[in-house]
Amino acid sequence: MKKKFYITTPIYYVNDIPHIGHAYTTVAADILARYNRLKGNDVFFLTGTDEHGQKVEKAASEKGMAPKEHADSMVENFKRIWKKLDIEYDAFIRTTDAEHKKTVQGVLQHLFEKGEIEKRLYSGWYCLPDERFWTEKEVEDGKCPDCKRPVEQISEENYFFLMSKYKERLTKHIEENPHFILPETRRNEVLGFLKSNPLGDLCISRPKQRLSWGITLPFDDNFVTYVWFDALLNYYSATIYLAPRMANNESQSTALSSDWWPADHHLIGKDILTTHAVYWSAMLMALDFPLPENIFAHGWWTINGKKMSKSVGNVVDPRKIADEFGADPFRYFLFREVPFGLDGDFSEQAMTQRYNTDLANNLGNLLSRSLTMVEKYRDGSVPHPVESKDREGLEKRIKAWFAEPQSGLPGRIDALLKNLEFHNALALLWSFINDLNEYIQHATPWKETDQETLSNLLYVLCEALRLVALMLYPFMPSTAERIWEQLHLEEYISRVEFDDAIKWGGLKPGTRINKGPALFPRIEKKNT
Ligand code: MSP
Repeated sequence: MKKKFYITTPIYYVNDIPHIGHAYTTVAADILARYNRLKGNDVFFLTGTDEHGQKVEKAASEKGMAPKEHADSMVENFKRIWKKLDIEYDAFIRTTDAEHKKTVQGVLQHLFEKGEIEKRLYSGWYCLPDERFWTEKEVEDGKCPDCKRPVEQISEENYFFLMSKYKERLTKHIEENPHFILPETRRNEVLGFLKSNPLGDLCISRPKQRLSWGITLPFDDNFVTYVWFDALLNYYSATIYLAPRMANNESQSTALSSDWWPADHHLIGKDILTTHAVYWSAMLMALDFPLPENIFAHGWWTINGKKMSKSVGNVVDPRKIADEFGADPFRYFLFREVPFGLDGDFSEQAMTQRYNTDLANNLGNLLSRSLTMVEKYRDGSVPHPVESKDREGLEKRIKAWFAEPQSGLPGRIDALLKNLEFHNALALLWSFINDLNEYIQHATPWKETDQETLSNLLYVLCEALRLVALMLYPFMPSTAERIWEQLHLEEYISRVEFDDAIKWGGLKPGTRINKGPALFPRIEKKNT
């Protein structure tokens, strides 16, 4: 049955250029979106940019530009890199979109009328770079507990979202829904935070004399909306004006009802978990909207063992890595090297190692050896398999990977992807690839004199490669396409039904192969 699948990335600040951290979440979302499209689900994959607030205003003014003009140019950097990394998002939201602003104002007005927002005089410690208030207790030696920069005492009238009253309901929701926040360590962190701290109300306005770059409050035009309140609502507002029409659904989404809501996954980095798990959840509760199915907080990348930072000058530019190694190898590395959820380290050395071992040796060689033999022994045509010729049960072992839909490779990968265990899914796929390499090693086709046995072996290899490409497609889409092209299955992805395609035997005997250049030419030396 067709299912709805709505997945989001954070919307990125336009004060920065895209780096490995942005690429990480966005590729993760792309993998899951592609996989779900492949399965025939109705997919909405949303990414975009967060364009209001102090940080962005400051970055623009430093360049002598108006904030919107600056944002327009920065947005292109993100769109360009997503294209280069083969990210197929369905929509790109910008918080400066007129429709988004309208939704934010609609929501604010609604919550104000409902008594969820209140004006108060507030004195507190304010961190300018983080754009948030801290309580006396939270401040550490006059410094922001988050970014460690000095905070200032500010006293002013502001509007507050009455978030504190949702503490118990939210705690209960997290306790009753073990998959709501993942990984589990992060879930425990949020529960610990809720249980050991009083939850305050959230200041959601900024006086215009201090900040003008934001969405004006609909009920008081002396104020703009706090950037996080505006930004978090992107996940909802996009479903109203950017989401595709759902098949078989005539109803029109409106400001306070949407077919696509709730999201299946909000993918985020661990540093923005509180804003998502606490602020956003409370906002949704106040709106009487369901909470997202899952918020997944991934870990952070260090670079050669060091924290990535502009001042150190070690920021990894995904464009450069994609130029050097290719987009697919970069995507592979990000998800094979480190379990999603844990911190990981990037180095060109580790990247080269993965490239040469897993990609050039294991996968690339498997394809080229197999197709070379089809050319040499069968004049480039996929032979007919002959069931009875499996002398040592080697073929049975390969086919067993696809014998049962649930317990076989596709079923197991499906279960792993549902848990966002990308690294385990890839490791499993590579065990299959390794099995195929061993199969060749044991069967020694170059010594085989029985023609039927040889035909069988060559069919099994070609068919297995068709299936490897299918399972690999969400992770490495252009590699999958290149494998299919060599099997003369051009544009395969657009014409297959997943449930049929995962069955053994889909490749037609007699297909003329089209052997091409090596998928991953070895990288000989890297002086890093
Ligand atoms: N605009 C907010 C998000 C609003 S979502 C409603 C924001 N933007 S950001 O541009 O700073 O994006 C940061 C994203 O990149 C976060 O998910 C953060 O965790 C991630 N990363 C930043 N550095 C990172 C690494 N070194 N490694 C992995 N991810 C990192 O926050």
